[in-house]
Amino acid sequence: MSRTSLSRFLIEQTRARQTPAELRFLIEVVARACKMISHQVAKGALGGVLGSMGTENVQGEVQKKLDILSNEILLEANEWGGHLAAMASEEMEKAYQIPGKYPKGSYLLVFDPLDGSSNIDVNVSVGTIFSVLRCPDKNAAGGDLSEDAFLQPGTEQAAAGYAIYGPQTMLVLTLGDGVYGFTLDSEMGSFVLTHENMRIPETTAEFAINMSNMRHWEAPVKGYVDQMLAGETGELKKNYNMRWIASMVADVHRILTRGGVFMYPRDAREPEKPGKLRLLYEANPMSFIVEQAGGASTNGYQRILEVQPQSLHERIAVFLGSKEEVKRITQYHIDAQK
Ligand code: AHG
Ligand code: MN
Ligand code: MN
Repeated sequence: MSRTSLSRFLIEQTRARQTPAELRFLIEVVARACKMISHQVAKGALGGVLGSMGTENVQGEVQKKLDILSNEILLEANEWGGHLAAMASEEMEKAYQIPGKYPKGSYLLVFDPLDGSSNIDVNVSVGTIFSVLRCPDKNAAGGDLSEDAFLQPGTEQAAAGYAIYGPQTMLVLTLGDGVYGFTLDSEMGSFVLTHENMRIPETTAEFAINMSNMRHWEAPVKGYVDQMLAGETGELKKNYNMRWIASMVADVHRILTRGGVFMYPRDAREPEKPGKLRLLYEANPMSFIVEQAGGASTNGYQRILEVQPQSLHERIAVFLGSKEEVKRITQYHIDAQK
């Protein structure tokens, strides 16, 4: 049986849809960086990569060694190829400018280099999330690119994807025409298409939320989870199952595979912050993927992809996955406003 490599898939996709070769190159470079990260993650204690750096990122979160290492791998892989105008990362306060010695391209790359950091030291799946935007100011080639260039709604993404470093390393990708999953053949060193046109079932009986925050939730979320917990005899008339991996990539990957609803609502712990997850690095790329797979994604009130970002590290509430449940929780939020 002939196998479709990521390279072949990208060439065929770009030929059929007239996607620029520059975008194909960009995805290949990101995939190569993810292979390198996968290799580092897999070394674990043997590679001395576990544990913390003793530093904090702009969000005030402790940085793990692998957060920094993964960030560096992505920067180094992507800075010289001439396909990017700038990069932005969860782990860097400011946008990363392409060094003057390299040519600049027409895309912007934003990423969460290592998602699920709290799981690194306990050998549970982690991942990398990325989003590709077009640079609105092509004339910025001379000077530094302003951060405003990144503040585009998720509907403008040219591509998005994630790598999951689990029992298998996989790359899941959308170029705006469906979602495709590739499994890393570590002997050959290449990603092979194994999951064609991934689709999220519209209905589900599985939810994902960190229940320990229940006392901080707003009324619509509390009410909805209570209904699910009530099971067959409750209003929703079915028994629900719950999973929470605490790596968004792993929770979203499960939902892409067998359905489910993922929730990280805003809560009363830090009232000035609308949720924990980051709009540009996590919510937008995942929402693009989920919608392309037939699912839905909102912040409780509107499509996440239509939210106009105000700042690079902005946070947002996230409800995504099987359409029926995302619709339900969104309706509960809207009703509560009346
Ligand atoms: P990161 O490791 O990039 O900071 O992201 C962690 C995120 C996300 O992956 C996960 O869904 C969530 O944080 C888990 O949060 P809790 O620890 O509050 O459950
Ligand atoms: Mn993350
Ligand atoms: Mn991270």
